[in-house]
Amino acid sequence: MKYIEVVDLPPGQSPVVAETCYRSAEALEAGQILFLPRYAFSVPGSYQPLFSSPILQRGSKSVSYSPSTRKLYGTASKGQTLSSLEEMMGRFANFAQKTVTRLLPIYRTGLVRARTSFRPIEIETRSVPWRKDDRRLHIDAFPSSPIQGNRILRLFCNVNPAGQTHLWRIGEPFEQTAGRFLPSIKPPFPFSSVALMLTSTTKSRRTFYDHIMLCLHDRMKRDQRYQEEAERAEIEFPASSTWLAFTDQVPHAAMRGQYQLEQTFLLDINRLHDQSTAPLHVLEKLAGRKLV
Ligand SMILES: [Fe+2]
Repeated sequence: MKYIEVVDLPPGQSPVVAETCYRSAEALEAGQILFLPRYAFSVPGSYQPLFSSPILQRGSKSVSYSPSTRKLYGTASKGQTLSSLEEMMGRFANFAQKTVTRLLPIYRTGLVRARTSFRPIEIETRSVPWRKDDRRLHIDAFPSSPIQGNRILRLFCNVNPAGQTHLWRIGEPFEQTAGRFLPSIKPPFPFSSVALMLTSTTKSRRTFYDHIMLCLHDRMKRDQRYQEEAERAEIEFPASSTWLAFTDQVPHAAMRGQYQLEQTFLLDINRLHDQSTAPLHVLEKLAGRKLV
C-alpha cells in the first residue's frame, strides 16, 4: 500500500502543470496523503506571542475560526494577541483556499470552506477520553453536521517555531477497515434522524451513511486490538511543510506535535475524478444498499 504522494509545489502563485494537478487528485482519491515538503504558510514575527503565551480557553484543545463569519472560538486571548490570532486564522484560511484551488482545480466548483483550527498544545502528552483522542487511528465524521456522502478534505501545516516535526500514523485502506467493522454496525432507530433535527442535535438530516461513519469513528478508536494490530505506517512532517488528505477515508492518528494549523473543506462528491473509492460508494458496495 502506498501511503503518501510527494508533490514539490513551489511557493507562490504560479500555475501548476495539469499533470501534477491530475496526479494530486488521483493520489488523494486513492486514500494517500498529499505531502508538500517545500510549501508552507509563512508566520510573521509579529505573531510570536501566539506561540509563547497560553491562548486556549479552559477545556479547549484548539482555537477554531469560521471564515464566513470571521468569529473565533476556544480562545482566552485579549487585546493585541486576539487581533493577531484573528489575523493569522483569516490569512491561513485564505492560504489554504488558494492552495487547494491552485493544486486541485477540478474541485474548485464543489468546495465549501468550513472551520479553520489552530492547535497550540503538544498532542503526545495530552490526556483526553478515548472518543476525543486523536492519537488513536480513526476516520473523521461530524456528529452535528451530517455530510450525506460528500467528502471531508483537510489541509494541515506544521508551523512549529522551534522546528519540531509532527508524527502521524496512517492505517490500512478504507475498504479493509470498513469491512472489518461494518458487520457489527446496526441501523439507527426509526425516525432518529427526525428527532435529532427537532432537538437541534444535528443541523441537517443524519443519513444512514452519516450514522455508519460516526459508528466507524467510534469503533476504530475503541478497539484496542485494531489500534495495535492493524497495518500502518508512520510519517513525520517537518516544520514549514503542508499536507492534505481526505480524512473521511484515510485512517489517521496524530501521535506527536505542537502548533498545527488546519483547514477543513467539504467537497461535493460529484466533483471527484473517481467516485468508486469514496467512502459512500465503498460502504454501499459492502452493505449492498443505498445509504443516502
Ligand atoms: Fe481526525
